[in-house]
Amino acid sequence: MCGITGYIGGNKTTEVLIDGLKRLEYRGYDSCGIAAVDSKNSLYLKRVSGRVDALEKLVREEPVKGSHVGVGHTRWATHGAPSEDNAHPHTDCTMQVVVVHNGIIENYLDLKDKLLAAGHKFKSETDTEVIAHIIEEKLKSLHVQEKAMRADMLEPVFFEAFRRAVADLRGSFALSAVWAKCPGMILAARLHSPLVVGLGKGENFIASDVSAFLKHTKRVVFLNDGELAAVRKDGIDFYTFQGKKLAKEPVTIQWDSTMAEKGGYKHFMLKEIHEQAGAVENTLRGRLLPLGGDALKAELGFTAEAMRGFSLVQFIACGTAYHACLVGRGLFENFGMNAYADFASEFTDRAKLLAGGALVVAVSQSGETADTLFAVSEARAAGAKVLAITNTVGSTLTREADYVLYTHCGPEIGVASTKAFLGQLAAIYLLAGHFAAARGHLDKTDARRYAEELLKIPRLIEETLEKEAEIAAIARGFSSSEHFLFISRHINFPIALEGALKIKEISYVHAEGYAAGEMKHGPIAIIYKGMPLLAVAPSSRVLALVAGNVEEAKARGADVVAIVDEASQKVVKASRYIVLPRTDELFTPLLSVIPLQLFAYYIALAKNCDIDKPRNLAKSVTVR
Ligand code: AGP
Repeated sequence: MCGITGYIGGNKTTEVLIDGLKRLEYRGYDSCGIAAVDSKNSLYLKRVSGRVDALEKLVREEPVKGSHVGVGHTRWATHGAPSEDNAHPHTDCTMQVVVVHNGIIENYLDLKDKLLAAGHKFKSETDTEVIAHIIEEKLKSLHVQEKAMRADMLEPVFFEAFRRAVADLRGSFALSAVWAKCPGMILAARLHSPLVVGLGKGENFIASDVSAFLKHTKRVVFLNDGELAAVRKDGIDFYTFQGKKLAKEPVTIQWDSTMAEKGGYKHFMLKEIHEQAGAVENTLRGRLLPLGGDALKAELGFTAEAMRGFSLVQFIACGTAYHACLVGRGLFENFGMNAYADFASEFTDRAKLLAGGALVVAVSQSGETADTLFAVSEARAAGAKVLAITNTVGSTLTREADYVLYTHCGPEIGVASTKAFLGQLAAIYLLAGHFAAARGHLDKTDARRYAEELLKIPRLIEETLEKEAEIAAIARGFSSSEHFLFISRHINFPIALEGALKIKEISYVHAEGYAAGEMKHGPIAIIYKGMPLLAVAPSSRVLALVAGNVEEAKARGADVVAIVDEASQKVVKASRYIVLPRTDELFTPLLSVIPLQLFAYYIALAKNCDIDKPRNLAKSVTVR
C-alpha cells in the first residue's frame, strides 16, 4: 500500500504535496518523492529513500519555481527494494511524463519487455515506471506534433494517450499522471486501489485517501473501479475507462484529519482488521493459477519439479507469525508432506538435523525480528534453502533468504498483528496448494476446488466482519474477566493460541490457548464458575471431539462462546455463538481468527487500553 497525492491550482504545489504525503505516511514510508511542472513547463523531480521530512528538507533547499501542478508519492515497496531510483514519481524517456501509482501491475514484465524492445531505457526495478513509458508510446502513436499545438489542444491528446495506456494495464492501480507539456491537467485512474479527488476553490486535489487534503476541502468525489478523472484547477471531469463521460456528485466528509488517517476507525488495529479481505486478495492476486504449475516460477523459481525436490518444510517464526506457521504445518501434513514449525527462539539445535532438501520457511511481517533472523542464519549454516514470507520489501530477512514471497498487506501500523497474519496465512495456503498439486497430493479436480475455495475467502471475510456489532456486545460482557481460555483442535488449534495472544497483548489480561484435547490432562482444573472459554468449533472431522471438550468445560462452570458455522452450531452446546460463513474445514482458520481479533479489540476498548501501541511491546522485536 502506498500513498499518492496530486494538486493543481494555486502556487503552493510543493507545500500541498509534502503536507499531503505526511498525512499519508501511514500507508508507506520507505521512500517518497514529488514532481511538479515549473513556470518553463519543465519537470521538477525530487525523491528520497527515507521519510517525508527528508524530502521536505531537500525541496526547501532546491525549491521549484512557479509551479501550479504536481504529484507526490510515499512508498511501501512491492517491486524493487526501497531506494531513490525506485521511489516515485517515475518518468518516461523524455522526462516529460510523470506518474505515481499505488497497487500492483501484474503484467508489467510483459509490458516492459515490449518497451525495452522498442528502445525504452528504464531507471528502476518498479512495475510503476512501465506506465510512464507506455503513456510516452501512446503519445507517439497519436503522432503528437506538440510543437504546433497550443497547450489546451494537447489536453485531449494527453487524455487519449493516458486512457489507452490504462487499457493495457492488468492488476490493481490508483494512478495519477502529469505531462509537462500540458500543465493544465492531471489525469487519474482507479482499479482495485482507492483514489479520491478533492474539490477546492480555483484548485483541486487527488489522493489515496481524504486525509491528504482534508485541511483544504471536505468536498470530495470517490472514484470507483474503472473510472478516470481529468483534474483541472477549475473543474474535474469523470469518465469510464472506455472514455464515456460520467456525472458524479461530490460528498462532504465529516471526519477530521486524524480520523481520516484511520479511515474513520478509532484505531489502526480496527482499520487493519477491516483491511483483511484486501490483504488476502492482494497476496493471492496473480499467483494462484494454475495450481502446481509455474505461477510462482517468476517470483521464486518454483517450478513443479523444484517443489517436488524438497523433502520437508520447516517453519520458523515468532508470535503471531509462529501461529501462521502452525497452520502451515497442519496444511502441509494434510497434504502428506513432512512439516515442522518451531519458535525461532527455540530452533537452536534443530537446524543441524535438517535433512538435505529441507525448505525452511521463515515468516515475519517486519522481516527484522532478531530471533527469526538468527534462526535463519543457523538454517543456512546447516545448508538449508530458506524461503522468506514477509510484508516488508528490502527488509533484512529478504537479503538473508534464498527466495522471497511477499504478502501484499500494506504497512501494518497497529502493534497487534491482524491483516499481516491473514496475509501470511494467504501466502502459506498459496504455497501449500502449489506444493500439493505439484507433488500429486491434489489432482486437477481437487486443485481447482482448492483454488476456487481460496478465492472465495475475501468475500467470506467481509461476511464475517458483518458480525462485528454482535461480537463487540459479547466482548463487553467479559470486559472485567481476569482470565480467558481459548480451545480448539487441529488446523484451528493455532487460532486458539492467536486469540489468546491478541487479548494478552492489547488488554494485558491473562489468556491461554489450549489444544482442546489437552484440557482433560490438567488445564481443566483451572476452570472456575463463569470463566470465559472461547471454543473455535467450525464443522470439521474433529467437531464431535471439540463439542465433547466444550461439554466438559461447561460442566465445570465455564461460560462458553463458540465460534461455529450454521452446521456445527447444532452440535456444540455453548452459552453464546458467533456464526461464521461456511467454508471447507481446511480454510476455516482464515475466518475463525477474525471474531477473536474483534473480541480482543472490544475487550481492550472497554478497558481503555492503548490499543495501537500496547505497553512493553514493539512492532518489530529487533533484540534476541
Ligand atoms: C503479534 O500481534 C505481535 N505483535 C508479535 O507477536 C509479532 O507477531 C512477532 O513479534 C513477530 O513479528 P514479525 O512478524 O515482524 O517477525
